[in-house]
Amino acid sequence: MNKKKPLKVSIVMGSKSDYKIMKFSEKTLKNLGVNYEIKIISAHRTPKRMFEYASAADKNNIGVIIAGAGGSAHLPGMIAALTSIPVLGVPVESKKLKGLDSLLSIVQMPKGVPVGTLAIGEDGAINAALLASSILSNNNNKLKNKLKSWRLSQTKSVKKYPK
Ligand code: RP5
Repeated sequence: MNKKKPLKVSIVMGSKSDYKIMKFSEKTLKNLGVNYEIKIISAHRTPKRMFEYASAADKNNIGVIIAGAGGSAHLPGMIAALTSIPVLGVPVESKKLKGLDSLLSIVQMPKGVPVGTLAIGEDGAINAALLASSILSNNNNKLKNKLKSWRLSQTKSVKKYPK
């Protein structure tokens, strides 16, 4: 790992079609001013790309990986098997089973190779970006303060009464 450069978040997704959900991770990281990259990597369609990406993740200054996938969503688990960088999985809603297949594929990793699993869809994509930022903020006070202000403005946006 290159200690001089700040660590970035890497957002990867199994297909271009996942971007409709994963763009919410991107937007959240942008709002927080977190360095990120975004790529399409499929565990079954581009296994060589996946292997090369995960093997080089450490030296590419990646601090957290957000991996979004749908259906038989093995991408987060496969990447986690190839690196010890934290991997956060976002289950993307699938056509047939509404993302339950994606959720179970990602969340049910057998012991030994963890994947932190978020909610299905947009909420999961946003929370993955917030969690990735929290992880990076352990060594970054500026980011910690940004996350605090983000929470504060969220709290302030909740009205006391419905009218
Ligand atoms: C998975 O298959 C992707 O993560 C995507 O959610 C799903 C469908 O892919 P496309 O057929 O839309 O390319 O690999």
